[in-house]
Amino acid sequence: MEQGNLYEAIYKRKSVRRYDLEPLNLSLLEEISSYMQSIPPFFPEIKTEMRIFEQADVRILLPIKAPHFLLFYSENKDGYLMNAGYMLEQLDLYLSSRGIGSCYLGMAQPKKNAKKSSSLECVMILAFGIPVEPAHRSSLSEFKRKSLPQITDIQDNGPLLEAVRLSPSATNSQPWFFTGNPYILHAYCIKLNLIKAAAYEKMNKIDMGIAICHLELAARHLGKTVTYSFEGNAKNLAPEGYYYVISIHINESPPANMV
Ligand SMILES: Cc1cc2nc3c(=O)[nH]c(=O)nc-3n(C[C@H](O)[C@H](O)[C@H](O)COP(=O)(O)O)c2cc1C
Repeated sequence: MEQGNLYEAIYKRKSVRRYDLEPLNLSLLEEISSYMQSIPPFFPEIKTEMRIFEQADVRILLPIKAPHFLLFYSENKDGYLMNAGYMLEQLDLYLSSRGIGSCYLGMAQPKKNAKKSSSLECVMILAFGIPVEPAHRSSLSEFKRKSLPQITDIQDNGPLLEAVRLSPSATNSQPWFFTGNPYILHAYCIKLNLIKAAAYEKMNKIDMGIAICHLELAARHLGKTVTYSFEGNAKNLAPEGYYYVISIHINESPPANMV
């Protein structure tokens, strides 16, 4: 994952819902497209595509008007929604770091042409463009988020879980909980009842990918490397009301003379 300014963007990004409807200039759009092509996936074996469309190509319930809409398509395989969140959040942070506004639109749907433009499933739409409202938050107090003890029982959690805490999520539900220790964190997602699951189960899986993207960026910022595993033991120890997603190992980077 490209480090760049993505980590800094975690602490100021916000969803932008009001845009200048003038399209971005071509060279900026080309830069964005080329960044999109470089985004590392969480699961490299899952095929994905990203394409940029206009307002006329998407059906949106809420009246959000924007000059551009990124459609994220994916193969429907185990972990594909988490992979989508992990990749899209890198784009969200990249756009924010460039002063370009964006907003996930979980309730939007592609119209016929946009749907047909890929053989893969359209899993998320992201509106983007030049904001006509502030592009950034100016302080942490502007984030409406749960407190750290509401999302983890790890005492010595440092800045990693703070970066997770600030992650965006559908309806701001923040469905994550982390147990473990500062070296091995186990990620869990809230269980939903049948009615809520119909609307939000998919969204929560995307949210988990977003949170893991923030965690990885924070770890790398501290000079650590990150690896992932599925631990049977962590699955059995899921907190009440949550299901297990993945374990994150925070490793010291090898000294430069060993690389
Ligand atoms: C998976 C996902 C789906 C979302 N869907 C919508 C949506 O349909 N409409 C909308 O206005 N915002 C949507 N959002 C934006 C969230 O409401 C927003 O991220 C959350 O309230 C936190 O606010 P912030 O992004 O400004 O920090 C979505 C966010 C995520 C991560």
